[in-house]
Amino acid sequence: MIQVIIDGKPCTAEEGEILLAVARREGIDIPAFCYDETLAPYGACRLCLVEVVKGAREGITTSCTLQAVDGLEILTETPEITRLRKALIELYLAQAPRAESVKALAERYGVTKTRFARKVVKDDPLQNRCILCGLCVRVCGEIMGTGAINYIGRGQFTEINTPFYEENAACMGCGACAEVCPTGAIVLEDIENTRVMKSWSETKVPLQQCPACGTYFAPVPFTAYAHEKLDIPLLEELKDLCPACRGKAAARKAVTLGVRE
Ligand code: SF4
Ligand code: FES
Repeated sequence: MIQVIIDGKPCTAEEGEILLAVARREGIDIPAFCYDETLAPYGACRLCLVEVVKGAREGITTSCTLQAVDGLEILTETPEITRLRKALIELYLAQAPRAESVKALAERYGVTKTRFARKVVKDDPLQNRCILCGLCVRVCGEIMGTGAINYIGRGQFTEINTPFYEENAACMGCGACAEVCPTGAIVLEDIENTRVMKSWSETKVPLQQCPACGTYFAPVPFTAYAHEKLDIPLLEELKDLCPACRGKAAARKAVTLGVRE
């Protein structure tokens, strides 16, 4: 273990650990929209800026790409960092005017208006909330191995969606994209026996029906994927059941086997 200093506070860290993660563990709140500890650091949103006052990369840099080395010293709020962060917040207010998390950050930093033109798009599949942080694209590609969505267009016309804005059979309907989105931009809905990925060109994924209670409970392709990846395979008679029925059946099985009374 090594020691780094954040805002004057000595903090223990592992060599090479991401500074943003160390700060979070220490209860130091650095704004960040594009960081997820399960994904490789990316540095897209630039909100997590810090100033390195002692260390190899002296100056302002992103804490989600900065690795801990012994003796590293950083400041998370300086007048210059606050100035840069406020400018970024103005950009995000224009780009994603309906994003509540952006509005909350604006309030925290006292940003009440934006100098940039607000981009409100009628019928935007991402509800005028997308800040193009890329987390959804990366979780879909890097974690789920699916790559059902990606960046489309360039510059101010960049968007996230399925290729050619068409339904994409590669989508498993897992909802990991919606789970990681920092602005709640992604819309999906379960309608009877189908999950509709409304934001992703209305891609439709069939839902699996529990043979015991008849409930539709999880996308069929995602269930197959999960069974394949599970470290502990489920008993054949349990694997198609919904979580509630699976719990009950597993308890009955435990009693039968004498594991439980
Ligand atoms: S939809 Fe959400 S996760 Fe995807 S790029 Fe936009 S803000 Fe990021
Ligand atoms: S969280 Fe570091 S650049 Fe987005």
